[in-house]
Amino acid sequence: VPLASGRDADVFAIDAQRVLRRYRDGGDVAGEAAIMGYVAELGFPVPIVYEATRADLVMERLDGPTMTQALVVGDLDVQTGGALLADLHRRLHELPPRLSSDPGDRILHLDLHPFNVMLSRRGPVVIDWRNATEGPADLDLALSALILAEVAVEDANDMAPAANLLLTAFLEHSGGDPLRMMDRALAMRRTDPNLAGAEIDRLPSAAGLVRRSR
Ligand SMILES: Nc1ncnc2c1ncn2[C@@H]1O[C@H](COP(=O)(O)OP(=O)(O)O)[C@@H](O)[C@H]1O
Ligand SMILES: [Mg+2]
Repeated sequence: VPLASGRDADVFAIDAQRVLRRYRDGGDVAGEAAIMGYVAELGFPVPIVYEATRADLVMERLDGPTMTQALVVGDLDVQTGGALLADLHRRLHELPPRLSSDPGDRILHLDLHPFNVMLSRRGPVVIDWRNATEGPADLDLALSALILAEVAVEDANDMAPAANLLLTAFLEHSGGDPLRMMDRALAMRRTDPNLAGAEIDRLPSAAGLVRRSR
């Protein structure tokens, strides 16, 4: 029985120390495992990777809730959450890139939102590095802002009001110029196979909200 099931991966507990994250339709975790190992070595908080073979990633099992869960139950307020998200971006983007020789490039997570931050005993830890790559830091900020805004503009979502406040707090605390990369972020979300039609339809209004919140 999986601990958690996402849109294309299941996460299983192996024992008290390790989980297995397995892509259901194959795939290759080598790229994300390499980035996770690289940022871990530089002191960025990620799960320790024990094994990476084809669709399977065996990694350190984290305790504690996701940032989303902590927000929902009231253990974390939106101001602190927004600042925390901005701080994780800042720390990630301080690291030198692994591959690129372009001086503007940084390591990017590209899916850094409250479901992908676990508040573990050793502090906040960032999971789900499948989209990670290298490029301009502002693109990472733009994607996080857009993802928060997508929730904020979904009227039927109970988390919409909190997402709206979190977006404002995130933008207040993050440096850089995410609006510069909004069109690129939008293009990436539009072609994301994990987004349903209705979610794609809300992207323009989500982008509008980010632009007004900055
Ligand atoms: N290292 C880990 N330790 C404990 N739980 C984890 C770990 N990695 C993922 N999980 C659990 O699995 C869920 C989904 O993981 P994630 O990597 O974000 O995949 P996806 O978003 O594709 O479902 C997380 O929200 C968390 O509950
Ligand atoms: Mg995830």
